[in-house]
Amino acid sequence: MKTIDVETLRTWLEEGVPVTVLDIRPMHERVEWSIPGSMHIDAYDALKANDLKALANVEFPGEIPVVTVCAAGKTSLIAAELLQAQGIQALSLDGGMKAWSLAWNIAEVPVPGGTLHILQVRRTGKGCLSYLLGAGEEAIVIDASLDSQVYLDLAKRHGWQITSVFDTHIHADHLSRSRQLAERSGAMLFLPDQQRVSFPFTAMRDGDTLETPTMLLTALHTPGHTMESTCYLLNNHLLFTGDTLFPRGIGRPDLEADEQQTHVRASALYHSLHKILALPSDTLVLPGHTSTPVPFDGIPIAATLAQIDEEVAMIHATREVFIEQIMMRLPPTPPNYRQVVTFNEMGLLPESGVTDLEAGANRCAIS
Ligand SMILES: [Fe+2]
Repeated sequence: MKTIDVETLRTWLEEGVPVTVLDIRPMHERVEWSIPGSMHIDAYDALKANDLKALANVEFPGEIPVVTVCAAGKTSLIAAELLQAQGIQALSLDGGMKAWSLAWNIAEVPVPGGTLHILQVRRTGKGCLSYLLGAGEEAIVIDASLDSQVYLDLAKRHGWQITSVFDTHIHADHLSRSRQLAERSGAMLFLPDQQRVSFPFTAMRDGDTLETPTMLLTALHTPGHTMESTCYLLNNHLLFTGDTLFPRGIGRPDLEADEQQTHVRASALYHSLHKILALPSDTLVLPGHTSTPVPFDGIPIAATLAQIDEEVAMIHATREVFIEQIMMRLPPTPPNYRQVVTFNEMGLLPESGVTDLEAGANRCAIS
């Protein structure tokens, strides 16, 4: 065997199987996104030029397998062959970083009491964070960004039936899998109240609730990142903020908006953030994205409102300064975001090329 697929490597990293991941891409590609814990040797040009000594003097730790990684899984094959010729057990990652975009890991968010379990399902290859909330026999999913099967398998493992699926907003940087998950699991699909999507859903308006024997989910309309953006407050303590608020930043308000609309949205965001900050300071914020690869460390990406209050200086500015700062700090738009939005508004997934469409690092936040 000369190759390894994403699911196998993902499982090895999750289970702590000893492996050295060797990233051979040029530095400018690596800084965009990488596999947590991987080592890096910029051997791309040398390998492309058939330099047989491209990896000759590299020292690897112990007798453990080496997985070579490039952008799409072709040059990494050459690297693996060179290493094999040196007597090293080497495998090439099938599909490279493009395929790795779908890799994920989980972290359990500690919840007192032991009845309720919250799994943060982290798409490490892309930075999307989704959530599986389970108690008794029932589960809720928020912001599904991976294939339905991932959530169905996790729920089954815990003896849960997924009964409700929520999105915090119409996403622009990844294809929502919520509609498909709701269809496959027979769950109800809840979206923020809006006229953007062209498929049936149950609308969540500000203050609307969903109650199960152990969970009370309350919608908080928080326009800004998008006008329909909605946070969900669970049991008055945990807040799923989507792309409105992150532990170290706030959501960008400019996607699919001209300059004037961006101003309007930035102003709305200012008010939404202060609405959130009025909640108790020990409220735990669980965001919808992160802008760096998620380690396989089981540590949830989360922060209390008190921590965010200290960390994110922008929220203490006046409204005018806040808007001014946002306009100055807008990052480049994510590639293909208009097409992604179109698919999400139709509730469809493309038949092929999902990872092409979702290519690129997550760019939802301003920090
Ligand atoms: Fe977003």
